[in-house]
Amino acid sequence: MPVHVIVGSQWGDEGKGRAVDVLARHYDYVARYNGGSNAGHTVYHNNEPIKLHHIPSGVISGIPGILGNGMVIDLDVLIEEIEKLRKKGIKPLLHISNRAHLTLPFHKEEDALIDEFKAKYGLKTGTTRRGIGPTYQDKATRVSLRVGDLLHPETLDDKLKLLEEYHRILVSAFGGNYLNDWNAANLKSKLMQQLREIKPYIIDTVDFINQALENGSLILAEGANGVHLDLDHGITPYITSSNTIAGAATTGLGIAPDSITHVFGVVKAYTTRVGAGPMPTELKNDLGEQIRQSGNEFGNTTGRPRRCGWLDLVLVRHAHMLNRFTRLIITKLDVLGGLEEIKVCNAYLHEEKGIRRYVPASLEELEECIPQYITFDGWERLTPQEWKDLCSQGYDALPKELKNYVEYIASQCGVPLAFITLGTDRGATVYVDLPSEILNR
Ligand code: IMP
Repeated sequence: MPVHVIVGSQWGDEGKGRAVDVLARHYDYVARYNGGSNAGHTVYHNNEPIKLHHIPSGVISGIPGILGNGMVIDLDVLIEEIEKLRKKGIKPLLHISNRAHLTLPFHKEEDALIDEFKAKYGLKTGTTRRGIGPTYQDKATRVSLRVGDLLHPETLDDKLKLLEEYHRILVSAFGGNYLNDWNAANLKSKLMQQLREIKPYIIDTVDFINQALENGSLILAEGANGVHLDLDHGITPYITSSNTIAGAATTGLGIAPDSITHVFGVVKAYTTRVGAGPMPTELKNDLGEQIRQSGNEFGNTTGRPRRCGWLDLVLVRHAHMLNRFTRLIITKLDVLGGLEEIKVCNAYLHEEKGIRRYVPASLEELEECIPQYITFDGWERLTPQEWKDLCSQGYDALPKELKNYVEYIASQCGVPLAFITLGTDRGATVYVDLPSEILNR
C-alpha cells in the first residue's frame, strides 16, 4: 500500500493537526519526515487541547507514530511530550528513527545568537529558537549526533568531545556563554538518562516503513511547517532549515517517490505568518486583530501573535505547483463568519513584470508585488455548536456564500476538496471527497 502526504500550503499553522486528526484513523501509521520542535500542533482530546511538537498528531487517535530520519529531535521536548500524553491516559505508540539527528542545548543557544547576528543586517529570520537551523547545519557539516549513536556509548565520548569543542568555538564567536552543563561528560550522562526513556522506541524506521508498505500498510506522512517555509522553495532568510514539501517525504522517511499516491494540501481560509518576511495580504488593522483573536492565532511553539491577512491564492497555487495536490482541505472557515465581505488575492501585480500568478524567487521582487483582490460575500457568524449542527447535515446545508468561497479556492488548483473544517471539534467537519484508497479499506 502507498503513502499519502499532508502538507500546509501556506506559511505553516494551516490546521494540519486538526486535519490529521480527521484522517489518521484511516491509516496504519502516521509519520513525520522533517523539522523538529519548531512545529507545533494543537489536537483536542476529550475537549482538552494538547500541544505537540514532535509526535505526529494521529497518535492521539491511537495510531502508531513514526519520527522519521529527516527529523531533528530534541529529547528534552520529546520526553516532556510523551509524559504529557501519559498523564492524559494516552500511551503513545512510537517508532523513532535511529537516523534522526539530535538537537542539543548549544544548538538552541546558537539559534538565538545567530538570528540576532543576522538582525544587525536587517536579515533576522525570527526563528522559533528551537535549535533547528544549527542542528541541520551540524548534519550538513557532518559533526552531528544521531539518535542511533546513543546506542553505542563506547564511541559516544569522541563524538561528544568533537561537538563540545566545535560548539565552544561557535558559541563564543557569536558572543555567547558555553555552559558547564554542555561539557561532553555532562551531556553524556544526561543523554544516557534520556535514552532509558526512549530506547524501546528506537528502530531502523526506513526498514520498518518499507516492510510495512510491502505488507499492505497505508501511511500518512505529515509535513511540518508549511510549503513556503521550505529551505529551497521559500525565500531566504525567512524560511526554516528543512525541506517541507511533499517530495521531502522520500528522503525524510526513506521511501521511493512512487510510493506517494496522494498529496493533501491544507489551506487555511485566510493567511497567517509567524516571524519576519514579506506577507503581501497582511492586514495591519483592526480586522487583522479580529481574525487573530477569533482564530486564536498565537504561535503554538513560541506564543508569538501570528500576522493575519486575507487568503493569498498565489501562495496556494505555487504550493500546488510544487506538490501536485490531489485533494484540498480547507480549515478555519468559521473564523471568517460574520464578515460582510471577504477578499482573496488571486494574483500579484508587479510594476515591471505585470501580473504574477506564482511567488517570485526574490525577496526584493515579492516586496514590490501588489496583491490583486477579488471580493466574496461573507457568511454569518455561528456558535461552535451551530456550526457542528450544520456540519452534521452535510455540504449542501452550508451557506451558499461559504460554498462559493471554497469552490473558488478548489478551482484554482483544479482538485477536489477532501473536507473542510468549521471549528476545533472533530464534529465540525464536512466531508466532500475522500480518496477511495482510504474509503475502501
Ligand atoms: P525555525 O524553523 O525555528 O528555524 O524558524 C524559521 C522560520 O520558520 C520562522 O519564521 C518561524 O516562525 C517559522 N516556522 C517554523 N516552524 C513553523 C511552524 O510550524 N509554523 C509556522 N511557522 C514556523
